[in-house]
Amino acid sequence: MTKILVTGGTGYIGSHTVVELLEEEMEVVIIDNLSNSEREVLNGISSITGKEPHFEEVDLRDRESTFGVFERHPDIAAIIHFAAFKAVGESVEKPLDYYENNLLSLIHLMEAMKKYGVDHMVFSSSCTVYGEPDTLPVTENAPIKKASSPYGNTKQICEEILHDAVATMQGKGVISLRYFNPIGAHESTLIGELPIGVPNNLVPFITQTASGVRECLSVFGDNYNTPDGSAIRDYINVVDLAKAHVVAIRRLMDHGQKSDFEVFNLGTGRGLSVFEIIEAFEKSTGQSLNYKVMGRREGDIEKVYADTSYANSELGWKAEKGIEETLLSAWKWELNIRSKK
Ligand code: NAD
Ligand code: WQD
Repeated sequence: MTKILVTGGTGYIGSHTVVELLEEEMEVVIIDNLSNSEREVLNGISSITGKEPHFEEVDLRDRESTFGVFERHPDIAAIIHFAAFKAVGESVEKPLDYYENNLLSLIHLMEAMKKYGVDHMVFSSSCTVYGEPDTLPVTENAPIKKASSPYGNTKQICEEILHDAVATMQGKGVISLRYFNPIGAHESTLIGELPIGVPNNLVPFITQTASGVRECLSVFGDNYNTPDGSAIRDYINVVDLAKAHVVAIRRLMDHGQKSDFEVFNLGTGRGLSVFEIIEAFEKSTGQSLNYKVMGRREGDIEKVYADTSYANSELGWKAEKGIEETLLSAWKWELNIRSKK
């Protein structure tokens, strides 16, 4: 059985990907230090799949402990590297924490690839590397804009590290996946996003407002140059996103002895405004949402959505789930969490 190391595997996107890998009969080793997730997520994964991943509570900033995992699992064939700090605002407050965690973790994994002969890695990147794009939809060849936060800068630097390191490592292949806006939860409602504190992201804020945890959603700006004045993003279902990782792993393993670094956009190709998301949420869930229009949020861009044609043709992958289905899954997940509190 092919053994895949998933870092950040108890996190939001990682846990959904672990489910897809287990369902494709792969063996999974998770590394997570539980800094932004809970051990209980493992129960959700097992309930869905009837299988158990190996779990290693390890901090990737610790090189020796990280190497220890490769000593215990000498047959790891590929790595999917999700583990990172990801809060844009927090990264402005604590830049060194972000550079330390996101860069050191990657470097230690690259060192382990070299030392233990692991040939493949899939890396979690972000559409944040494009900033405010000059043309839409945005392709993988669009220029990388100066990062607007230390978080965004870590993704740019990590891609550069990967590009440069892979060029010197014969036979290694890396795929960097640039996610647009991942939302929703597994249809079982056994795993989903667990935002700690007040959510920064739109969809968790919407579901928490509808469930009464938050009083009112602030819509950040209605005077953008968009059809309804609110900002536009490409919201992608987290299960669709997870499936793309299985495809990327297969592509790397089928590739043979090449040293290369590839980049793919993971989005739906469809841009939706904040008002359109609110409307789709109300329609799919039957909940009416309390919201008010506020000023723009600092650092926000006006509109971004993916050109997915390269991922569609080269990976043979396409996002399949619609926005209403996806928002309904986020709502069911919210109800599930609330019923346990
Ligand atoms: P998440 O916080 O839910 O998951 C990340 C996991 O990594 C957490 O479980 C955390 O405990 C773990 N982790 C962090 N630092 C670690 C370390 N040093 N050692 C071991 N474990 C560590 O985040 P997510 O939303 O699942 O995001 C996964 C990846 O995707 C991240 O790299 C993120 O930057 C990227 N990404 C996320 C989004 C998004 O909107 N969620 C968008 C684009 C890219
Ligand atoms: C979406 C839209 C907001 C909250 C962030 C990161 C990005 C990537 C994905 C990791 C925007 C509006 C939001 C609210 C609102 N993450 N909004 N009221 O900003 O596109 O991207 O997550 O790589 O790097 O920056 O996502 O969900 O925060 O916002 O009106 O309470 O919803 O202004 O237009 P964003 P988001």
